[in-house]
Amino acid sequence: MGILVAKTVPELRAQVANWRGQGARVALVPTMGALHEGHLALVRQGASKANRVVVSIFVNPAQFAPHEDFDKYPRTFEADKTKLEETGAAHLIYAPATREMYPEGFVTKVSLDGPAAGLESDFRPHFFGGVATVVTKLFTQCRPDIAMFGEKDYQQLLVVKRMARDLDLGVEIVPCPIVREADGLALSSRNAYLDAGQRKIAASLNRVLADVATRVRRGASIPVAEAEGAAALLTAGFERVDYVAVRDAETLAMIHDVKRPARVLAAAWLGETRLIDNMAV
Ligand code: PAJ
Repeated sequence: MGILVAKTVPELRAQVANWRGQGARVALVPTMGALHEGHLALVRQGASKANRVVVSIFVNPAQFAPHEDFDKYPRTFEADKTKLEETGAAHLIYAPATREMYPEGFVTKVSLDGPAAGLESDFRPHFFGGVATVVTKLFTQCRPDIAMFGEKDYQQLLVVKRMARDLDLGVEIVPCPIVREADGLALSSRNAYLDAGQRKIAASLNRVLADVATRVRRGASIPVAEAEGAAALLTAGFERVDYVAVRDAETLAMIHDVKRPARVLAAAWLGETRLIDNMAV
């Protein structure tokens, strides 16, 4: 199946308006490209809940700090397009140029609190501001009925949900489960940076999180389980651990017990590569 490509806001709007005129329900799947099965699962879920699926591909400079991997982030448009065509579930790729998204003189930013505080923000303070600004723009450019977000980026999912509610963006945020490799490693565009040795170590992230979740469920002290989880990652071969944290699954507030649904989240480094993962407790 051929797929449409829009590069500008008017092209995108014209196509979406056309579909709306036919009574179609529209899903948006925001991505930065380098598509893998995790992204494609979002696309398929979008197609199961809407008549038309727009996939945005935009490596958003605003969510990378100057020292981060913006320049080396994989850009694989033709392969992405083929993968989307093969799903048969995507109808349009929206791939704006940086100047289309951030025209000369662009100064406005969405600012956040609540679920955006702590965890990722402690280590990537610029990150959620950049994500929230681009996601707001994608929503107002496309005006979808629903938008698909992966639980892989759990804090991002909660931040976007809260933002959509607080700003009355009129888009329903649909969470999608994490897609993993056979050994448990969550699929990520950044896994491509790992060499064979690092790739083996990477699988322990998911195992350690499962272990922390089990211990906490059985009544272990949360700070002790978090500290032991971080130590286990270092033992497994991770070079640095940004955090292993057990939090309230809805607010990401710190908790002392697991009377309400909880989530364990982690970020850790293998060489130059930062991996994140999370799971329900
Ligand atoms: P990106 O990392 O490309 O991810 C796009 C979407 O795919 C996100 O919602 C992410 O959670 C989801 N995803 C990635 N890997 C997944 C996996 N293994 N299983 C399930 N879902 C997965 O997240 C971003 O881009 C950007 O921050 C973006 C929201 C596009 C804003 O620029």
